Amino acid sequence: MRRSQLNEILADSQALFAQHQIYLPPFAHFTPQDWTTQDLTRFQEVFDLQLGWDVTDMGSNDFANTGLTLFTLRNGSVGGKPYPKPYAEKIMISREGQQTPLHFHWYKMEDIIHRGGGNMIIELYNRTADEQCDTTDVEVVLDGERQRHKAGSRLRLTAGQSISLTQGLYHSFWAEPGHGPVILGEVSMVNDDRRDNRFLRPQSRFSEIEEDTDPLHLLCNEYARFLPL
Ligand SMILES: [Fe+2]
Repeated sequence: MRRSQLNEILADSQALFAQHQIYLPPFAHFTPQDWTTQDLTRFQEVFDLQLGWDVTDMGSNDFANTGLTLFTLRNGSVGGKPYPKPYAEKIMISREGQQTPLHFHWYKMEDIIHRGGGNMIIELYNRTADEQCDTTDVEVVLDGERQRHKAGSRLRLTAGQSISLTQGLYHSFWAEPGHGPVILGEVSMVNDDRRDNRFLRPQSRFSEIEEDTDPLHLLCNEYARFLPL
């Protein structure tokens, strides 16, 4: 992904969040220049826990069809040290037709919450012992309602609905074409994107960036590259 494209996606994401009256913390709007005017030692938690922007095409080089935009609002350390917060929260944008590929988490249990916009489609499979998709029925809880579905079922969630995803449950989701982008919340256990994603087909969780212009905002995995930490 080119930096100029990333800058456009970030500007568009800020506009979309604003349109849905979702407000981000001040550092979401910091430019690299703004960061240099801050006492960076006070933001150690942001840097250590990778809070902030995360725009990824999962290494596909095809952001329109495979990817996701996320902002991590809170997180803790795996194992509780040094940051004891045992929970995490993200706000995300899945653009129309843009798929997050099938994956599960070994450690993290998460709720995906439809916060606004079009329809969210989510496809589900149990995992087998060798971490492939199983053919057994899937049991999930949506807003406190237990449901059973065939393997590979695609559930449609509209604004206000949420789904609990347990460890080992394969999930892929996207915004249904023709209905616009979807704003999604994620409330979960501690999030470790570096080690806790099992993709059915190998993907890289973070994108390669081609530097054709200066960054508008830094991504959560770029602080150490651009700031004197
Ligand atoms: Fe997930």
